Amino acid sequence: MLTPHPGDRPAREVLGHGEAPGKVILLGEHSVVYGHPAIAAALSRGVRVSIESNDEGPTFRAPRWGVATVLADAPDVAPLGVALERVRRAVAPGLTRVAAVAEDRLPLGAGLGSSAALTVATARAFAAAAGTTLTAERLTQVCHLAEQVFHGNPSGVDQATVVHGGILRFQRPPGGTPDLRALKPPQPMTLVVALMRPHVGTKEAVEGLRARRERHKRTFEALLHELGALAQDGVALLEQADWAGLGERMDLAHGLLHALGVSSDDLDQLVRLGRNHGALGAKLTGAGIGGAVVMLTDGDLDHTRRLVLALRAHGAQAFSTEVV
Ligand code: PMV
Repeated sequence: MLTPHPGDRPAREVLGHGEAPGKVILLGEHSVVYGHPAIAAALSRGVRVSIESNDEGPTFRAPRWGVATVLADAPDVAPLGVALERVRRAVAPGLTRVAAVAEDRLPLGAGLGSSAALTVATARAFAAAAGTTLTAERLTQVCHLAEQVFHGNPSGVDQATVVHGGILRFQRPPGGTPDLRALKPPQPMTLVVALMRPHVGTKEAVEGLRARRERHKRTFEALLHELGALAQDGVALLEQADWAGLGERMDLAHGLLHALGVSSDDLDQLVRLGRNHGALGAKLTGAGIGGAVVMLTDGDLDHTRRLVLALRAHGAQAFSTEVV
């Protein structure tokens, strides 16, 4: 008979996997919170979660993010643990002796939908482990519960894009239910994403904007309305693959977001650098005040590669992605 070595740990059984992509908002962040339309696209990189058997009760680990091990029932849990525990209870309440282990290929807190991707991938993994399937509607409901922990009152554009994938026109009238339309450009769109450091937090950026809007109501309403109108223009331009026209709208949107107070020196520098290196349009994406910028290129491989290298030489993390 073999005697277990004192250092041996019991083998962990993998019970299920789930994946979900990150996202970028091409037009309409912040104004989408006030009922205006937005366009968002799923990225080719995202988050993968595995559910493993575990002796210690529900545990969540995401090694690369440095959040270490978060025990969901510990008194002083981090928001991440609270959100993921909401997902587990909704999808697989019977699975208690498990660890959810996340592997991400997305920077956290950069406005690239990492929190939505994490909750959707976790819900899919728990469903697989419990032998059930989730409809898109149920998945969205579960993720909304979790996203409230990070965002307060999210518009839902992140979850919708991460759940459905592809490119979406999203609009949620105040107090109403979201209207989603899949957009299909006639040829793939090549984007470059770049970032210097994480953003201040979506909740903080949204609340700060709301407070400034109270003080400058007329101006802010006009700016938010105009951001929505640019997103609406963007729908037809995208469906005609009019990249120059779409890029111009992205440049205008960055100017309006700057006026709303959600840009930063880093973001403005990256936007300028991108435009000087041939981007057809460049703007902050997501909540802003730090975080990522998104740039549209003409699709030429060489132009795109040179743009990515220029951004990296500036010290930014940068990658290109095709969206369809
Ligand atoms: O989570 P982020 O950084 O992608 O921001 C979401 C977009 C906002 O419009 C700023 C907020 C929302 O709920 O739509």
